[in-house]
Amino acid sequence: MNFANKINSEVFKTVAGVANTSNTKAFVIGGFVRDLILNRKSKDVDFVVLGSGIAFAQKVAKELGPSVFARYFKNFGTAMVRLGDWELEFVGARKESYRVDSRKPIVENGSLSDDQKRRDFTINAMSISLQKKDFGELYDPFNGLQDIEDLLIRTPLDPDITFSDDPLRMMRAIRFATQLGFDIEANTFDAISRNKNRISIVSIERVVDELNKIIMAPRPSEGFLLLDKTGLLKVIFPKMDGLKGVEKIGKLAHKDNFYHTLEVLDNLAMKSDNLWLRWAAILHDIAKPLTKKFEPGHGWTFHGHEFIGAKMVPGIFKSLKMPTGDKLRYVQKLVELHLRPIVLSQEIVTDSALRRLLFDAGDKIDDLMLLCEADITSKNEYKVKKFLNNFKIVRQKLKEVEAKDKIRNWQPPVSGEVIMKTFGISPSKKVGIIKIAIREAILDGLIKNNYNEAYDFMLKQGEKLKLKPAMMVSEQEAIELNKKHDE
Ligand code: CTP
Repeated sequence: MNFANKINSEVFKTVAGVANTSNTKAFVIGGFVRDLILNRKSKDVDFVVLGSGIAFAQKVAKELGPSVFARYFKNFGTAMVRLGDWELEFVGARKESYRVDSRKPIVENGSLSDDQKRRDFTINAMSISLQKKDFGELYDPFNGLQDIEDLLIRTPLDPDITFSDDPLRMMRAIRFATQLGFDIEANTFDAISRNKNRISIVSIERVVDELNKIIMAPRPSEGFLLLDKTGLLKVIFPKMDGLKGVEKIGKLAHKDNFYHTLEVLDNLAMKSDNLWLRWAAILHDIAKPLTKKFEPGHGWTFHGHEFIGAKMVPGIFKSLKMPTGDKLRYVQKLVELHLRPIVLSQEIVTDSALRRLLFDAGDKIDDLMLLCEADITSKNEYKVKKFLNNFKIVRQKLKEVEAKDKIRNWQPPVSGEVIMKTFGISPSKKVGIIKIAIREAILDGLIKNNYNEAYDFMLKQGEKLKLKPAMMVSEQEAIELNKKHDE
């Protein structure tokens, strides 16, 4: 099979020209070839050359002109050349063998076929020639083309060897299966189950990198089911594995929280590409096993699982070496609040409950609503319709309250600075008490969300605490005061 007409852009012509003039054999290899056949657009291209990848890349960079950005990694014998949005990687063909205790290979120069053998999957081991005599010809020693047709992930060698050489490939197998909608061929699958514990020699960052790609696939549940069936899930993410199982007392069973979580994740994946929102879906019920109780006459309960779950998030992020800071806080907040809109949708909604939700969720409110809608996984169509309709009402009311009261990312109109200046006091407990009282009064609708009402209310609160005003602070003075404080 020939792909000459598919690799006709200047970049390939230039690389082929360098191969010709330097008398070096060069091939396109790996993911780019796979994606070309699958009609997935890509501008990340791997080239393999018989000889030094670095020396070859230097010539290509020179030929492509001054606008390229090139980096050479002498330790690895690889080079990266960037031209516009093309990213070209060059490596010399190699023969590799791995030690039992490490992913770092012992590398020797090899032939094209040696190089293809050491690759992860048949669909990633195909190469296209850039030689003059057979430009565009496909070299496919392991029938990758057939496996693409059959939608199969299969290793080129005995899978025990391929996975033992680089255990990260077990995650990659599941990642490609999930991204592409492929099956994992039976021997390959069995080898993952056998070798699952070897994943522990791979750095957790690289494992999570693959996990995140699974999570970003159109139906992430497929990847998690494969992780579960192969036993990898228990090794890499035991807390999620712990969601599995159903208990029954008498006729009362609770739902399996693992499958429920996967349904929520798939539902959400249809609505949002936000990786961290998808993580919130994965973790929203993570504390259910810890909080599970059977209450006679009532059934199974999971009281407080949202709060305990939120507390568990930092530990989970740490164990997976995921980012701290904003991303962590975002996921924590969504886990903590994930029941709030549901409660609202079941009750007569008061403005003050809506204001409170808006205040607590801030700019995460839209994502929280998406999570809650995804959380409706009942088999009863009538119930699902009813819940979704109630959420529509909640959304509408949230909009109305927000338009009226502007609570999202809101700060109460009277600040701590103003309180201190008015009563002539320094930072103390009393300032905090008054601040909270003002905030609560506005959220409860006792007073309006404006400076004058809040200021009068503040004076009354001060009186209760036996504070006497030392001076009055106008709204304009308050603005100046707050500005100065922020600087
Ligand atoms: N490869 C491998 N084993 C690995 C990683 C990569 O054999 N653990 C080989 C495969 O031939 C792969 C190529 O190196 O196709 C490039 O790897 P990479 O860029 O990580 O993946 P792609 O296959 O290009 O896929 P994607 O861009 O979706 O990650």
